[in-house]
Amino acid sequence: MERTYIKDLKNHIGKEVTVKGWVDVRRDQGKMVFLDLRDISGKVQAVVLPSHAEALEVAERVRPEWVVSVSAQVNKRPERNIKAEVLNGDIELEVLNIEVLNEAETPVFDVSSDGREIGEETRLKYRYLDLRRPRLQRNMRLRHEIALHIRNFLSKHGFIEIETPILTKSTPEGSRDYIVPSRIEQGKFYALPQSPQQYKQLLMVAGTERYFQIARCMRDEDTRGDRQPEFTQLDMELSFAKKEDIMKLNEELLIELVQKLVPEKRIQSIPFPRITYKEAMEKYGNDKPDMREDKNDPNLLAFCWVIDFPFFEKDKNGGWTFTHNPFSAPMTEHMENLMKKENIGDILATQYDVALNGFEIGGGSIRNHKPEALVKVLEIMGHSEDSIRANFGHMLDAFSYGAPPHGGIAWGLDRLLAVLTNEPNIREVIAFPKTGEGRDLMMEAPSEVSAEQLQELGIAVSKKR
Ligand code: AMO
Repeated sequence: MERTYIKDLKNHIGKEVTVKGWVDVRRDQGKMVFLDLRDISGKVQAVVLPSHAEALEVAERVRPEWVVSVSAQVNKRPERNIKAEVLNGDIELEVLNIEVLNEAETPVFDVSSDGREIGEETRLKYRYLDLRRPRLQRNMRLRHEIALHIRNFLSKHGFIEIETPILTKSTPEGSRDYIVPSRIEQGKFYALPQSPQQYKQLLMVAGTERYFQIARCMRDEDTRGDRQPEFTQLDMELSFAKKEDIMKLNEELLIELVQKLVPEKRIQSIPFPRITYKEAMEKYGNDKPDMREDKNDPNLLAFCWVIDFPFFEKDKNGGWTFTHNPFSAPMTEHMENLMKKENIGDILATQYDVALNGFEIGGGSIRNHKPEALVKVLEIMGHSEDSIRANFGHMLDAFSYGAPPHGGIAWGLDRLLAVLTNEPNIREVIAFPKTGEGRDLMMEAPSEVSAEQLQELGIAVSKKR
């Protein structure tokens, strides 16, 4: 018989159905057994009566998390047993037959609770069980719905999603790269992208005009609550667009997705307030201010834009480094200083960040599309002519073939989701996150590889920490 999803049982009252899923809870009452059954769509209570002896015999054997196929009659519950506020609170399955599809070990932890009482190491080691809990299922579903909404919205606005390479070149974007050895060219390495930044700009040179990607980014940096070694960005880039256009479009998208997908949330102020970097530092002591009027309200979202960032800051060796992105353009009125390399500390970038409840959830800028301006930025950062060629030659070449003015932004999708789901860290909104030490406890990665694999790559591991 065709399978019926548990959420649809209410449409089958008085009929016989087959339900497939997991045993959520089992209560043995001696003469009869109650089973709460669970599938992706919800839960339902089933009762196995003594009149169905064969089914009762199986029901006595089954345990939580066993996988079963149950044929049953859908009955209305008697008035006094109705639980109005829960799904299927007014119906009950009368079990006719139970087929065990798979048995299960006793789960290492409860998968029906919200899981916060369980040690995270255990949760991550058994993530496939952990993900069964309703809270994480909801988080995964919202993640999907947000991605879908973004894709539809941007598609309507003329954007196309383009995948950019995962195996690419090590570039100085600010963090440490993960590198991948080449077998064919021993001693050479690919790098995993810290973001699609350069490719998306090259797509603008390619005439794409409106690009986006829900893109995985990899950065070898210390993991924290809002930082993972691999994370997801909503990345976009637009040609011929002004800072205002990009901010407006992103604001509209953020507002629309909150109102449609998490309507219980209230956005504190629309349009999003704007604050300069200087004011933010003076008033809040950081560049991702938490502007909530009431920090006890779990449903309050205080978005804000932070603008007017300094382009350069001194690094620890006394040289200049960029604060955000070496590809950013300065504000128009600061272009002259950049080209003359004067008053470097005063040059402001076109950078705009979006903060939400104290988290930086996105950032972008208008870029330098003229090669000579990019060269100046790199010179200020202390690059020699050779190093500029070696690291950025491909960008300078591309910009010499008719690069349109362009700019973009990338959101930290995991961070946005964590705030929208009131989760304390982004691991709760990522299906298979890594620990603070960057380990995947379920897969046991990173792991050693065989001597043959190393030999093929021409790699010798000289020292183990
Ligand atoms: P940026 O480096 O600011 O900009 O990254 C954009 C957003 O990504 C999120 N983010 C992270 N989330 C989780 N774990 C991490 N390790 C992590 N690092 C960053 C943040 C951040 O705001 N290419 C530029 C964007 C652009 O200019 O268009 C970029 O990557 O929410």
